[in-house]
Amino acid sequence: MRIKNICCIGAGYVGGPTMAVIAQKCPDIQVTVVDINEERIAAWNNEDVERIPIYEPGLPAVVQEGRGRNLFFSTDVDTAIDKAEMIFISVNTPTKTYGIGKGMAADLKWIELCARQIARISRNDKIVVEKSTLPVRTAAALKEILKHTGNGVKYQILSNPEFLAEGTAIQDLLHPDRVLIGGDIETKDGIEAISALSDIYEKWVPKSKILTTNVWSSELSKLTANAFLAQRVSSINAMSELCEVTGADVTEVAKALGMDSRIGPKFLNSSVGFGGSCFQKDILNLVYIAKSFGLKQVAEYWEQVIIMNDHQKKRFAANIIRTLYNTVSGKKITVLGWSFKKDTNDTRESAAIYVVDHLLNEEAEIAVYDPKVQAEQIYKDLDYLESRNKEANRLNLNVTNDPYEACKDSHAIAVLTEWEEFKTYNWEKIYENMLKPAFLFDGRNLLNIEELTKIGFVIKSIGKPAPTKNSVVSKPALVS
Ligand SMILES: NC(=O)c1ccc[n+]([C@@H]2O[C@H](COP(=O)([O-])OP(=O)(O)OC[C@H]3O[C@@H](n4cnc5c(N)ncnc54)[C@H](O)[C@@H]3O)[C@@H](O)[C@H]2O)c1
Repeated sequence: MRIKNICCIGAGYVGGPTMAVIAQKCPDIQVTVVDINEERIAAWNNEDVERIPIYEPGLPAVVQEGRGRNLFFSTDVDTAIDKAEMIFISVNTPTKTYGIGKGMAADLKWIELCARQIARISRNDKIVVEKSTLPVRTAAALKEILKHTGNGVKYQILSNPEFLAEGTAIQDLLHPDRVLIGGDIETKDGIEAISALSDIYEKWVPKSKILTTNVWSSELSKLTANAFLAQRVSSINAMSELCEVTGADVTEVAKALGMDSRIGPKFLNSSVGFGGSCFQKDILNLVYIAKSFGLKQVAEYWEQVIIMNDHQKKRFAANIIRTLYNTVSGKKITVLGWSFKKDTNDTRESAAIYVVDHLLNEEAEIAVYDPKVQAEQIYKDLDYLESRNKEANRLNLNVTNDPYEACKDSHAIAVLTEWEEFKTYNWEKIYENMLKPAFLFDGRNLLNIEELTKIGFVIKSIGKPAPTKNSVVSKPALVS
């Protein structure tokens, strides 16, 4: 089966970049990305390609190449569904905030709405591809909905989870470690559908990297991959706390670990904690699934990854308060970085939100600078927590476009995102304009401790002993 028209429902961090790359690599296929969010679609169609709604290195050029040729962004979902032989579902699947499974299970209402819309519109056979991250066995539910509400149209459901990481999405899409396609490997139609999708990826991905499995394995592999990645972060973060009290250095420990070929060096950076829209929600979902099958120990094992991550964020904020003589009330604290990682404007579940919320509870006055996140988003993130009213958030937190202004007259700086530009600042100038002692809390172990200590900063890094003998920061408990 040759695919000529693709529809992707959901023009977010996954749908946008993924389809832009497919359109680039398959100029003979017309790719239409649809969304109910009019503002988002308008931004994808912005004449100035630098102003598309997602900040992702390399994405503007890929969008520019395909847009108007074989890549289209539209709010006309029905027409795009009708025209396509293959439909990707790439909508959000956040943690439920109500009812059964609240705070744990994935909310599948947007997925179900898509399935019902596909069933209502379709007049010829379709391949429906799950691109969203979904609980294992969701394809069965999709099949039920399509079968019972459809009009005799035949559907094949494939699972094709997305493994891209924000910040490196284009490189990840162009050179994936693997492409996973789960489908009905026991029927001729199923195998044909798998090969139709595989043909698309084969335009630029070596066939050896395209992995075919049954649907359940594919769905579960995505949740498992995120759980393993997050677990590595929580594991090294757990060690960072132990390093701080014993005088070991977490960077040295990570290096020693990473040289073991069985462990490998990636994803061993200790930090203020992981964020992003996926790790937490996918682990919670995994925990919920395990619980619902009565697998108590499995659920508790994975839940611990989240507990450790929450602890790391809280302990970072508590460390700031303790170091600033047990009070931050009325003190200006500067936060450098709001996005959940560098090279993205995505702030979902960013550690900065929780650290700042904690500091605002202690009556600190916060200044924020992030190179890509707008003030409106920062306030929205804090308002969502409902820890205080909206006016109080705006009164006690100020967002600026100038990092030097943000740091001026500050008692302490907290680096919460690993943006490269932070390394290039004139730190002498920043030091001069701060209150003394000038405290710096490096939540990403990003900056050069030796140089900054020489300037005069009192530095607190994650998982490292205090840098100087005369430091105001208390020495590790076991050696003092
Ligand atoms: N963000 C990532 O790094 C990443 C990586 C891999 C997988 N995923 C998974 O991919 C999925 C999408 O994630 P995202 O980050 O792109 O989400 P997102 O929130 O950025 O985008 C989802 C989009 O879907 C749209 N939408 C929802 N219901 C719709 C409907 N019925 N019709 C049309 N549009 C609709 C929303 O308006 C939104 O713009 C999630 O399941 C996520 O877990 C995300």
